[in-house]
Amino acid sequence: MPHAPLLRFTDVVPLRTEVAGWRRAGARVVLVPTMGALHAGHLALMARARALGQRVVASVFVNPTQFGPHEDFSRYPRDTETDLALLAEAGVDAAYLPEVSGMYPEHFSTRIEVEGLTEGLCGAFRPGHFSGVATVVTKLLNRVQPDLALFGEKDFQQLLVIRRAVRDLDLPVEIQGVPTLRETDGLALSSRNRYLDADERARAPRLHAVLSRIAEGLAAGGNAVPLLAEGHAALTAAGFGPVQYLEVRDAETLAPLERATRPARVLAAAYLGRTRLIDNVPVG
Ligand code: PAF
Repeated sequence: MPHAPLLRFTDVVPLRTEVAGWRRAGARVVLVPTMGALHAGHLALMARARALGQRVVASVFVNPTQFGPHEDFSRYPRDTETDLALLAEAGVDAAYLPEVSGMYPEHFSTRIEVEGLTEGLCGAFRPGHFSGVATVVTKLLNRVQPDLALFGEKDFQQLLVIRRAVRDLDLPVEIQGVPTLRETDGLALSSRNRYLDADERARAPRLHAVLSRIAEGLAAGGNAVPLLAEGHAALTAAGFGPVQYLEVRDAETLAPLERATRPARVLAAAYLGRTRLIDNVPVG
């Protein structure tokens, strides 16, 4: 059945009016926040959103406040027309494309800091990143006012940070994570994969292979210390470096774990050439 045409909003007032109408009509509204450069992983989020609600809004906003001064904000891939075509094809009802000046007007001075959860892993290497994410996601949730918002598990720490901010600030929305979509060779889908040259692309799946090997070792009752040492060596041998972190953490609190006596996650961030790749897998 053909879908209704994709609505497109830049301003928040008409978007809110539309969403309020949907909700009055009894629809469950799902938001999928993205930074564009959409790939099959995003489309899996859209498909899940359509399965879970009657109306789907996707936001496309490359959020400057979550990038550090030496990160890839200016070269982050942007292709709005392709993104809009993909969203229309995916049966999304509305695309929300706010402008930076509208999101962060002059004298913008409020940021959300989620303590504890943001201290290690990516938080240790990307100062200010999670505060930028928590702030923009809170704004997007307040602007769109969905019943449910979906986030990929690939950014696992981000998912936990958003869940915590939403709980702590009493935002009336449910947050759900969606498992990572992978290429057939295991590489997690990411907009940043397009930075990889052919040789790097061939090596990149080792990251997932190493994480999986560690997860299997832990599930079999192994100790994290030797498994992680072996994993580090395997990543270095595959050409990754620096390996920013390779860790086993509690899947709810992100506290370090030596054995998988609780639900656990193995997480890594490592450079392959100029490209920083992150990935994580559950244990068991
Ligand atoms: O995961 C992302 O794409 C971004 O961090 C998000 C959640 C859209 C916030 O800018």
